[in-house]
Amino acid sequence: MPYFFHEQDALLHLQSATTSYVIKLYASGLLGNVYWGPRLSEPQDLSSLIGLRDKRVGENPSTVDYEHQEDILYQEYPSGGASDFRPPAFRVIQADGSALSPLRVDLRPEHSHRHTPGKPALPGLPGLWCSTEDEADTLRIRLADALTGLSVELQYTLFRDTGALVRSARFLNQGTEACYLTRAFSLSVDLPPGEFDVIHLAGSWARERHIIRQPLLGGTHLVESTRGISSHQENPFIALAEPSAQEESGLVYGFNLVYSGNFSALASRDQFGGIRVLMGLNPENFRWKLESGESFQTPECVMVLSRTGLGGLSRTFHRLYRDHLIRGQERQRPVLINNWEATYFNFTEDKLLALAQEAAAVGIELFVLDDGWFGHRDADNSSLGDWFEDLRKLPRGLKDLAVKIREKGLQFGLWFEPEMVSPDSRLYRDHPGWCLHVQGRHRTEIRNQLVLDLSRAEVREALIHRVSTILTEVPVSYVKWDMNRALTETGSAALPPDRQGEVAHRYVLGVYEMMERLVSAFPQVLFEGCAGGGGRFDPGILYYMPQIWTSDNSDAIERLKIQYATSLVYPLSSMGAHVSAVPNHQCGRISPLETRGNTAMSGIFGYELDLGALSAEEKELVKKQVAFYQEHRRLIQTGDLYRLKSPFAGPRNPGNETAWLIVSPGKDRALVFYARILAVPNPGLAVLTLAGLEGAFTYRISGKTSYTARGEVLMQAGIRLPPLWGDFQSALWVLEKV
Ligand code: DGJ
Repeated sequence: MPYFFHEQDALLHLQSATTSYVIKLYASGLLGNVYWGPRLSEPQDLSSLIGLRDKRVGENPSTVDYEHQEDILYQEYPSGGASDFRPPAFRVIQADGSALSPLRVDLRPEHSHRHTPGKPALPGLPGLWCSTEDEADTLRIRLADALTGLSVELQYTLFRDTGALVRSARFLNQGTEACYLTRAFSLSVDLPPGEFDVIHLAGSWARERHIIRQPLLGGTHLVESTRGISSHQENPFIALAEPSAQEESGLVYGFNLVYSGNFSALASRDQFGGIRVLMGLNPENFRWKLESGESFQTPECVMVLSRTGLGGLSRTFHRLYRDHLIRGQERQRPVLINNWEATYFNFTEDKLLALAQEAAAVGIELFVLDDGWFGHRDADNSSLGDWFEDLRKLPRGLKDLAVKIREKGLQFGLWFEPEMVSPDSRLYRDHPGWCLHVQGRHRTEIRNQLVLDLSRAEVREALIHRVSTILTEVPVSYVKWDMNRALTETGSAALPPDRQGEVAHRYVLGVYEMMERLVSAFPQVLFEGCAGGGGRFDPGILYYMPQIWTSDNSDAIERLKIQYATSLVYPLSSMGAHVSAVPNHQCGRISPLETRGNTAMSGIFGYELDLGALSAEEKELVKKQVAFYQEHRRLIQTGDLYRLKSPFAGPRNPGNETAWLIVSPGKDRALVFYARILAVPNPGLAVLTLAGLEGAFTYRISGKTSYTARGEVLMQAGIRLPPLWGDFQSALWVLEKV
């Protein structure tokens, strides 16, 4: 029984196979956070936990008036404005103008909380799910402000196998007057004092999600996006790791928000060294009106605890997301060719068919027609919104092209950027008010385009209708859903002045509604998310689309960092990874085709170049790469990842080598990837120590060096690296249990 209520001590204990989370209902009605850590057994007396969090229990156990002592308590969902001076979890501006909403729980057991097996879905929002009710337990705790009638229901779902905890909050205005929600985090956790590093994933276009790790000393560390999308610049992920924590050792707490818009994550030290972590919607420019009787649901946030370092943290996230977030995870992902870097906007039907022919000859399974097939789009300055094929480029139409491509034995895929409009488009001329804007103000164009106001139902309907018509008329098996700019002047012509602070979140809800309706209406279509590469690589999108284009940067060496860091949270099965031409179009680097292939194979594999421009020898290699990926894709898409060498330079790591290993759930197969960036003259003997194998198994190793060895030898002593000549070299080995 993974949920326990210790009535006498007013302790709620959520227990998984590996973790426990314990909440205290204080007599004052405040909700205390008393334990998040490795599993505690039951039955046992847990009252000593309270003493560890409550300075005064030892001094005077009968004094429990905490109404004015909030600053010393470890809390679950702290209100601001009273005596807790740490950052609050929420803020409501009441009808009297105050920002005070002291929340208290109704202590009667039948009123304080509710336990149900399984996990309910959040209406209109992406979230984790269970296949059967025995996979998770959900606890709901209701807090209320007696004076105004505001109440908040906190929802906790603990997944029984991984120990991951998913939290969210729902606000309900049961008062008679309207109020404004200006801050509504999905979770707050107070952790006891300790030395920790903060880890987050930061970057920019073409260099998304690089790992940043720095000590959390005093003050508040903020990770956020204000761009309307989760962003290239920061990912909605934050971790606190013991300074000594490494890949396979040490304590790490990880937090990931299931949301694709403005977010913030804070880690804040208090006066005693304790740490408050908050994560959720970004309060910046957020102001949500709650009329009497209205409710507001926050997105959910995932909390993962690892005692086995960053590797353990990642494997828990991967397993959780593969089993409980990504829908369509199990579907076979075809090896694709995308025409973008092969042709950009400059294509004809003949050019596309020639590329498809080359692709079919090397065993590729899916042909993707990228940007430029609609309106009169010969550059990025027109036609977004006009989703009608350009008969100058495709004189016999899209359907005819798709049929011809299918006749070559390939599936057909198509690019859309549904959320956008070009000022030079029929759609914009007909509906100039349909984009996000503020009346009388300049409309900032980025990449010559504006963002459609998806908070408006009629805009969503028009887009769903157009995209659905194409997906119905044309035999499309795959859609790349792109999104190429941030939100600016985030106002809506359809909302009153006192609701303009809602637009950014309503936009994201609109995107989710569109995605939900389209993916449900076309279950046979494989959707891939994209936002100028990896500008919206988050669990919100993964709920709708099982894969995301990881970055526009497909240079194999840059991808070492991007894919390594993305894997901190997201499974390899979610990362689109393509082989592209050299010199690379994003940074000019020339790397061997072998390394480009080896790197891209640790993801959802494809090509994005003019295959016709390759030599016969290169085409032979491409054919082998495609066949190799097809043989091992199940392992890559479902295996456990062990990172062995980091491309990020540190005091003890020059960052010249990258390595990881993917091992099957039964540990009978594994794939080892190794890359060396710059050549090392006279390197001497080099060895790579493996991890994650079964020590007692004997493995046949095949690759640049081939032999047989026991798992224990491979993990304790390692494998010998082959001599590599030149820069940007790599190797792959397949390990099979003998
Ligand atoms: C940005 C994407 O990331 C690219 O792959 C490509 O689809 C372009 N947009 C097309 O405009």
